[in-house]
Amino acid sequence: MRVSVFGLGYVGTVSAAALASDGHEVVGVDVNADKVGAVNGGRSPIVEPGLEELLTRVVGDGRLHATSGTDEAVHGTDLSLVCVGTPCRRNGSLDVTYLARVCEQIGAALKRKRGYHVVVVRSTVLPGTTHGCVIPTLEATSGKRYGDGFGVAVNPEFLREGTALKDFHEPPLTLVGHNHAADAAPTKALYQQVEAPLVSTSIRVAEMMKYASNAWHAVKIVFANEIGNLCKRLDVDSHEVMDIFCQDAKLNLSAYYLRPGFAFGGSCLPKDVRALQYRAKEVDVDLPLIGSVLGSNRLQLQHAIDRIVETGRRRVGLLGFSFKAGTDDLRESPMVILAEALLGKGFSLCIYDRNVSLARLVGANKEYIEEQIPHLSRHLCESLDELIERSEVIVVGNGAPEFSDAVTRCRADQIVIDLVRIPLDFSKVRAQYDGICW
Ligand SMILES: NC(=O)c1ccc[n+]([C@@H]2O[C@H](COP(=O)([O-])OP(=O)(O)OC[C@H]3O[C@@H](n4cnc5c(N)ncnc54)[C@H](O)[C@@H]3O)[C@@H](O)[C@H]2O)c1
Repeated sequence: MRVSVFGLGYVGTVSAAALASDGHEVVGVDVNADKVGAVNGGRSPIVEPGLEELLTRVVGDGRLHATSGTDEAVHGTDLSLVCVGTPCRRNGSLDVTYLARVCEQIGAALKRKRGYHVVVVRSTVLPGTTHGCVIPTLEATSGKRYGDGFGVAVNPEFLREGTALKDFHEPPLTLVGHNHAADAAPTKALYQQVEAPLVSTSIRVAEMMKYASNAWHAVKIVFANEIGNLCKRLDVDSHEVMDIFCQDAKLNLSAYYLRPGFAFGGSCLPKDVRALQYRAKEVDVDLPLIGSVLGSNRLQLQHAIDRIVETGRRRVGLLGFSFKAGTDDLRESPMVILAEALLGKGFSLCIYDRNVSLARLVGANKEYIEEQIPHLSRHLCESLDELIERSEVIVVGNGAPEFSDAVTRCRADQIVIDLVRIPLDFSKVRAQYDGICW
C-alpha cells in the first residue's frame, strides 16, 4: 500500500516506521519542521525503544520519507492515516481543532486528486466525531461526496508508550469501523503482517470501543490500588490477593458481568460491597471507586423506573421477580425495589416469575414472601398469558428462557422495556421495544 501518515507524534511515527518495515510505501506528514527533519534524517522525534534504529533502516531503504506538503502526500498515496493529537480542553471536552484542520488540508488536496482515496482516523475520537466533523469537513473542502470521491474508516490505536513497536505488531485486535466495504479493504490491507484478530464494525462502535477500553483500563488500575490500600491497612498481602484474583478467568477476568443491563442484586454483591466499604471506613481507608458502586447501581434502578413512568401507561407487567433467572431468591432483588416504587406511584402491577410462584407454595422462601413482601406477593400472577393480557407495558426483568417467546406474543399496542437484553427474533416482535441501555 502507498500510505500517508498525518501527525508524526507517538502514534504517527510508530505507525509510519512499522508500516514501512512491513513493506508499505510511507510518507509521513507533520506541520512541525523539526519532526519532518528528524524523520528524514533517520532520527526519532520521540523517545521510544527500538524506534530510532527502525527509522534509520526504513528511511535508508527509501520506504519512508517525511514532508510538510499535504498535496504531495495525498496525491502520492491511496490512503491517509490521521494520527494528529486530540487533546482535552480545560473543561474536559474533546478538542478536535487539529483533526478539523488536517481534514481541511487533506480535503483541499483531494479536490485536485483523481481516483478514490481513503482517510483513516487513527486518532482517538468520541462517537459522532467522524460523522459530525471528519466527513463534512472533507466534503466541504474537497467538493466530493463521501463514498463517491473518497472513503473514511476509523481504526483506533491500542499501543502503549514504551512498548509501542511490539504493541503495533501484536495488538489485542485490529479494529476497522466503516460504512462501505471499499473503505474497509484497504484499511485491513495495512495490517496483513500484524498477528491479531481483525474486527469489522460500524464507525460509531469503533469510536466508542476505544473509549470503553481506556475507561476500563483506568477502572482496573484504580480498583487494584483501592484493594491494595485496604489490604495494606488490614495487613494482607495485596499482591498475593490479586495474583489469585487474576487466576479466576471465569468470573474475574472474563466477559462475565460485562454486558450492559440492569442493576445487580441478590444476597451477596450488595451486602459484601457494603461490608467492605464499612470495614474500610473503620480503618480510615478511602475507597472512592468501590464506594461509588452502590450509588451507581441505584441510579440504574432509577433509570428503569423513569423509563416506565415516561411511557405514560399505568398497567405494568413484570417478567421476572428474583434478581436473576433460575433462582427464587428475592433478597435485595432490584425487581422487588422496582415493584415497590411502581406501587408507590399508583401503578397497577402484574408480576410473573415461575420460580417465585413455586416458592410461594413450598420452600424456604415461602416465609420470606409471606412475611417480608405480602404487599407484593398479591400481585403475582400465575401465567404469562394473564400478564400479557392485563399489561400495557411489559418489563423483562431477568433472562428466563420463556420470556423470549412471551415478548414475541406481545401485541403491537404494548411497550416492552427490556432490562436484560433477552435473545429475540426481532422479525417476530410486534410491540414497541426499548432496551434500558442499548
Ligand atoms: N500516545 C499514545 O500512546 C496513544 C495511544 C493510542 C491512541 N492515541 C491517540 O492518537 C492520537 C495522537 O496521539 P499522539 O500521542 O501521537 O499525539 P502527539 O501530540 O504526540 O502527536 C500529534 C502530531 O500531530 C501533528 N499535527 C498536528 N496538526 C497537524 C496537521 N494539520 N498536519 C500534520 N500534522 C499535524 C503535531 O505536530 C504532532 O507532531 C490522539 O488522538 C491520541 O489520543 C495515543
